[in-house]
Parts: sequence; structure tokens; C-alpha cells
Amino acid sequence: MSLEGKVAIVTGAGSKKGIGKAIALCLAQKGADIVAADIDIKGAEEVAEEIKELGKRAIGVEVNVTNEESVGQMVGTALRQFGKVDILVNNAGITQPVKTIDTTEADWDRVIAVNLKGVFLCSKAVLRPMMEQKHGRIINLSSVSAKRGGGVYGGSHYSAAKAGILGFAKSLAREVVEHGITVNSVAPGLIATEIRVGLPMEKERAIWETIPMKRPGTAMEVAETVAFLASDSAAYITGEDIDINGGSHMD
Ligand SMILES: NC(=O)c1ccc[n+]([C@@H]2O[C@H](COP(=O)([O-])OP(=O)(O)OC[C@H]3O[C@@H](n4cnc5c(N)ncnc54)[C@H](O)[C@@H]3O)[C@@H](O)[C@H]2O)c1
Repeated sequence: MSLEGKVAIVTGAGSKKGIGKAIALCLAQKGADIVAADIDIKGAEEVAEEIKELGKRAIGVEVNVTNEESVGQMVGTALRQFGKVDILVNNAGITQPVKTIDTTEADWDRVIAVNLKGVFLCSKAVLRPMMEQKHGRIINLSSVSAKRGGGVYGGSHYSAAKAGILGFAKSLAREVVEHGITVNSVAPGLIATEIRVGLPMEKERAIWETIPMKRPGTAMEVAETVAFLASDSAAYITGEDIDINGGSHMD
């Protein structure tokens, strides 16, 4: 499963214990050069430094995935530095544990903008270069919340955005298949990252009891599946979503 010679953009890669960082490191370990992009530029640059220590090329780039101009600059920087973009991982995301009755219009707009509009803007921005090279891999971070509703960590806006990603990915997959581009998603269950910090341990352990594997997943377990989808081994897979949830939801 080599990614030697590939160039990957990973959004939301700047979180210290995040899935994006694990994806960036995992793709680099398999040979890819990395554009670590995040609204937190310091975090993104730290991850890029870690990747350079692995002997791969990497840059940290500031991006706000909700802003088309900022996204265009991110892709422009990637093309200038590395000459191409083979892989886009749409990982940047935010959540908010709130009931619908308490969700404000501003909450709704913010969560939909980062999680769903961001996926649209970043995907659109890499399409032309991927079409020209007749090859590309777009991989989105959806969530188990897309399939069975939210819960302690995310509200209905989060579930709606993550379900929206699945519809968007299938539609885009059909549009771009003739250009050699595949579009797939992963749907993690509970993963041990900072996005869910704040819940008391006894509540967290009660959630573990509902998972057949009785534990949260690791960011690296998500990253390995993303790396598979980015590789030539997944050449015949498009419009698909892969659950990574210890059995907590099966479809
Ligand atoms: N952790 C879980 O249990 C879990 C489960 C299912 C899905 N996911 C999804 O996986 C992805 C990563 O989650 P995580 O747990 O690593 O979260 P995290 O909070 O650790 O990392 C998210 C990153 O996105 C960045 N970000 C936020 N808004 C941004 C914006 N507008 N532009 C650019 N970057 C922005 C943040 O700075 C942060 O570095 C998210 O899409 C999340 O919804 C996480």
C-alpha cells in the first residue's frame, strides 16, 4: 500500500491528538508528501515539522475551509510547492453537543459551514488539477452520527452535516469517475481525540459499554483506512463509506 510519489492535502491536520494529524503522519509513513492545513497554523506547522523528521516533504498551511478564497490559496500553495495534488482528505470538523431546541441559527450555520460547506469548497478546489492529471482521491470524514443520529458529542446539525457529506460524496463520485477520481468517506464512531474532551470519565465509560469492542477507536485506526482508500489498492472503490466504530453501528 505505497503512497510513494503522491502529494496529499489533509485539512484539520493541526490538532495535537486529532485524526487529521494521524492521517497526515500515516500517509507520510506510506510515502506521501503532505500539506498539513488547519485554521490553527501553529498546529499545522508543528505537524509538518514532525513529518519532515520522517524524511518526507511537508508544509503547514493556514486555511479556513468555510472560505473559498482561503481554500483556493491552500490548493495554490500545494500546487506551487509540490506541482500536483493526488489526495485530498476532508478532515476539518467541529462539533457541538446541543439539543435541537437549544440550537441557535448561528450554531446551525457554523456547524454546517465547517463540516459540510468546507467539504464542498475543498473538493471543488482540487477537481481541476485532478482532472488534468486524470487521477485523484478525495476522502471525507463523515461520522457514525450520520447514520444513527448524534448523541452526547454532537447535535442534529452535526448529524445533518455528516449525513450530507455522504450524499455529496456519492453525487461527486458519479460526476468525476470518468476523470480517474474516486470519492469515498469514512464514518468513525467514538475515537479518542480532543473533539470529545469535557465529558466526565464515568459517562465516557458508560458509552464504551454500548460499543461491542468496549473501547474507543484510535486516530491511527481511522488513518489506516483513509490510507487504504488513498492507495491504488482501493482503485475500484468509489462513492463508498466505511464504518470504523468497533461494531457500534452496522449497515
Ligand atoms: N473524534 C471522534 O470521535 C470523531 C468521530 C467521528 C467523526 N469525527 C470527525 O473526524 C474529524 C476530525 O476530528 P477530531 O476528533 O480529530 O477533531 P479535532 O477537534 O481534534 O480536530 C479538528 C481540526 O479541525 C480544525 N478546524 C476547525 N475548524 C476549521 C476550519 N474552519 N478550517 C480549517 N480547519 C478547521 C481544528 O483547528 C482542528 O485542528 C472531524 O471531521 C470530526 O467530525 C471525529
